[in-house]
Parts: sequence; C-alpha cells; structure tokens
Amino acid sequence: MTTEDQQAPPGIDPATPSPARLYDYYLGGTDNFPADREAAERIRARMPELADAAWANRGFHQRAALWMAGTAGIRQFLDIGSGLPTQNNTHQAVQKVVPEARVVYVDNDPLVRAHASALLTGEGSTRFITADLRDPDSVLDHPQVRELIDFTQPAGLLMTAVLHFVADGSDPYGLVARYVAELAPGSYLALTHITADQKPPAAVQAILDIYSRATERIYMRTRAQVARFFDGLELVPPYDGAPAAVTYAGEWGAEDAALADSDGSRWSYGAVARRP
Ligand SMILES: C[S@@+](CC[C@H](N)C(=O)[O-])C[C@H]1O[C@@H](n2cnc3c(N)ncnc32)[C@H](O)[C@@H]1O
Repeated sequence: MTTEDQQAPPGIDPATPSPARLYDYYLGGTDNFPADREAAERIRARMPELADAAWANRGFHQRAALWMAGTAGIRQFLDIGSGLPTQNNTHQAVQKVVPEARVVYVDNDPLVRAHASALLTGEGSTRFITADLRDPDSVLDHPQVRELIDFTQPAGLLMTAVLHFVADGSDPYGLVARYVAELAPGSYLALTHITADQKPPAAVQAILDIYSRATERIYMRTRAQVARFFDGLELVPPYDGAPAAVTYAGEWGAEDAALADSDGSRWSYGAVARRP
C-alpha cells in the first residue's frame, strides 16, 4: 500500500482519510493512502511538530503498558483504539517483561482489521477484534475478549489517543466509567487525549478541518476535561518526585521530564490511574 497504484482492501475508501491511517503516517508508517498523506501534510504546514506529537503519545502508550506489566504486575491488557500495527505493539512491549501477558486489541477501522494478522504473533496470547468503543457491550461481551481477559483479576485498560474521536453527545465519560467498572480492583487505566490548551489557533483549526472531512471528527478537551476521565481513580505519579496528576504525554514515565517536555508532547494530556 506504499504506492499510489495499489488497491485498497474491500470496504475501505482510500479517498477519505481515517484516524488510524493518518496516525500511521505521522509515525512514519506505510499503511496509508495519498489522501491521508495529503491531509497530514496540510496539518504539518501549520504544526511542524506533528511527528513529535504522535511519537510523544506513542511513547506514553509503550511506557504506560510496560509500567503496568513490569511495576504493577498486570498480566492482561485491553487496548481499545489500538491503531495499525507499528513497531513495539502492546503485546511486544509487555511480553518483554511478562512473557505470558495476554492482550486484546480493539479498533473500528477496517484497515486495522485487514492488517490485524501482523498483530497476531503472540501464539494464542493476543487477539484482535473489530468493534466500536461507543458500543461497550460489543467490546466487553465479545467472545474473544471473554476468552482472553479474566475480569475477576486486575487488567490494564489502554485508551490512548482515542477518546478525542468521541463526541460529547456519545458520553465519553460514561463510556470510560463503564469500561473501568468492568475491571477488577487493582486494575489500571492509561489514557491520553489531544488538547488545544495554549495552542496556535491556526494549527488547531487545521486539525479540526482535516478531521471534519475524515471518517471521524476530532474533539479537543482541556486539562480539566481530560482529568475528569480519571474521576474515582487513584492517579499514579508520572515520574519520580512528581505529584500524582495528569501531565503532558511525553513527561509520563520519562527518564528526563524536562527533556521530554517538547512542543509535540504538549498536544496531549495523559495519565495512568489505579482502580481502587
Ligand atoms: C490516533 S490512533 C491511536 C492508536 C494507539 N492507541 C496509540 O495511542 O498509539 C486512534 C485509533 O483509534 C481508533 N478509533 C477511533 N474511534 C474509535 C472507536 N469509536 N472505536 C474503536 N476504535 C476507534 C482509530 O481507528 C485509530 O486506530
């Protein structure tokens, strides 16, 4: 799919950019079409730190997953809005420290399904399902989820860079609460979300415009609105010596928080929190 003349798999409209394909392109991947690349470049013209912003978020995802496995002892993970396969996918990150860790990936993009086989290298410990997180029963009651995730035991719920595709009208807070309520005490939620806080209006507008013509719109939320996703949970300090709070994505788990505090990182807030 790296060249213009390759065919899109059935059911995929290559002319309409999708969040999964745009993000793949931001990260330097090749699972995208010319329309995605053109749209991404229109954003980059207003936001030169686009790749840094995507990598700050992806780095958060990998560090949070690794921390849950290595430090918090989590053995099973639900990765909702998992994205296209990339380097160091969740199961690869966590199985480095917990070889028997189980991961279920969930995404609603048809191209992610088409490439899911690349994710299924975990020899029975990894699954992919196509589902829309706005229909939580379709995720939580899915036979593959029930087969791999034991909801009586702590689990890691990863919802990175996905809630900003959920409009207020779809009740994003209620949805997160519903998923968290299903988890056993001692489980963890890792979540990131784009923000327009202190951002150049032209860059924000470019993002809103591009996603208004994509398969999903995007919704910016403030720090307080992102913090609300963690209501009722115990926030984990993002790095040694820091207060337990929502931070910019790059700072979470960073070896050097000052170095990680880049322009790109400041496009996303994130945190990890424990279900008491
Ligand atoms: C920006 S990517 C983030 C990928 C990965 N979580 C990460 O942070 O690196 C967002 C992903 O969420 C998926 N997504 C968006 N809305 C969704 C929904 N309602 N249900 C399931 N997946 C969704 C998109 O298809 C895309 O793959």
